[in-house]
Amino acid sequence: MPKADAAFVDLLRAELGEVAIVTGSDADDQTIDAYGKPTAIDSVIVRPANVNEVSFTVKACADAGIAIVSQGGNTGLSKGTYLPEHQPSIILSLARLNQIESIDPERWTITAQAGVTIQAVQEAAAGVGRLFAPDWGARGSASVGGAVATDAGGNNVVRYGNMRDNVMGIEAVLADGSIWDGRRSLRKDSSGYDLKHLFIGSEGTLGVVTSAVLKLVPATPYATSTLAAITGLDALMPLLTLAQKHGAGTLTAFELIPDVAMARVDELFGRGKAIDAGTEFSVLVKLASSEPVDDMIASFLSAGVDAGYIVDAIVAGTPDQEASLWTLRDDIPPSTTYRETQHHGIKLDTAVPIDHIEEFIRRITASAKEIAPMALCYGFGHIGDGNIHMMILPITEETIEPWLEVKPAMEAAIDETVFDLDGTLSAEHGVGLLLRDRVGPQKQELEWDMMRSVQRALDPDNVFNPGKLIPDPAS
Ligand code: LAC
Ligand code: ZN
Repeated sequence: MPKADAAFVDLLRAELGEVAIVTGSDADDQTIDAYGKPTAIDSVIVRPANVNEVSFTVKACADAGIAIVSQGGNTGLSKGTYLPEHQPSIILSLARLNQIESIDPERWTITAQAGVTIQAVQEAAAGVGRLFAPDWGARGSASVGGAVATDAGGNNVVRYGNMRDNVMGIEAVLADGSIWDGRRSLRKDSSGYDLKHLFIGSEGTLGVVTSAVLKLVPATPYATSTLAAITGLDALMPLLTLAQKHGAGTLTAFELIPDVAMARVDELFGRGKAIDAGTEFSVLVKLASSEPVDDMIASFLSAGVDAGYIVDAIVAGTPDQEASLWTLRDDIPPSTTYRETQHHGIKLDTAVPIDHIEEFIRRITASAKEIAPMALCYGFGHIGDGNIHMMILPITEETIEPWLEVKPAMEAAIDETVFDLDGTLSAEHGVGLLLRDRVGPQKQELEWDMMRSVQRALDPDNVFNPGKLIPDPAS
């Protein structure tokens, strides 16, 4: 990983000030990702204070042929901020662009700079009686810029969509340093290509998103969740339908919680198992509205019991109980449950058309049993939008080596299943470096070619995050 030379760094330092340049062990500390692994070693992090400084930095890098890897909250799971191997580069941190520029409850928008965390946006919205709907476990560190760049999803997508559905406009710095102010807040605008959508999910390959106008929605002061133990995977789709029906527009989250992960959270934190009905799976279902939703929860549960899909359930009766159900959900991923060995494992961010969910989980589970019997396999996550996080990982030191031997075969089996079921390897975490060499077959080559044309048009010299996202042309 060659780094930008000292003369170049001095040029940036002279313009942006010492405060904007981080190197050495300080930089190493700021490049640890969600796997606990370094995304870069001995790198140069540049921290501009505003969009004009971003523009200056981009122009300087473009002139000097130095690649730019934008960095948000470092919570990414797809190695999107790893530095290029063979090109001098800098990390462009948006951390100092941390202002909420405006909040307008009448217009139902909030405009936040790229470095503002998702939680700060949520809190600001709540402060004016509105809701910013996207939400996921890393809310306290994940930033607006990173969320836009990966088209992040989370727990509430079943109702509110992913980031793409919650962004109304953006400001971005382009490859020649020019500043595109597209911070519009129009609900309807059919005046041509909606270019912001190219940047949403572009993983830093087209420009640097510096600010975004985000959509606010009505607050839902009444939110109640139920954790329901279910008979099996075949119950998922009928229960989702029942939750939509009885929730009558208030269904906000519908998550799969496997018993094995719930037991592990209990083992680690000793809070007790929230439900212990002896079934392999539960669903965590949240209804939220401006009015109480308890009757709707009750009628959903009784319909689920009557249909023979639910064997037991608990309902959050207080805000504390509600919060603790969602703390349980936040703790299910292996970044909490299997911290020591998780980075060796496969952590899928796949989505399939929702009617294929059951088959998808069954096929991956069967492949894991056959190919990787030494690994633990479990699935959790966003059933309501077809996005299942299947985990296949070693959980003891002794199984790491045999696991690593079969990991490529497991990945091949996963790809085959995902493509066969018309799915995607990346639903909400992005492609990055992690999946770049695997996503090719999931789209027509013609579609990748269109992406390459867009990328070349906006970043002809390949300054922005080279080597990520778009696979090499198929041979
Ligand atoms: C989650 C992250 C892994 O859903 O996307 O917990
Ligand atoms: Zn997720």
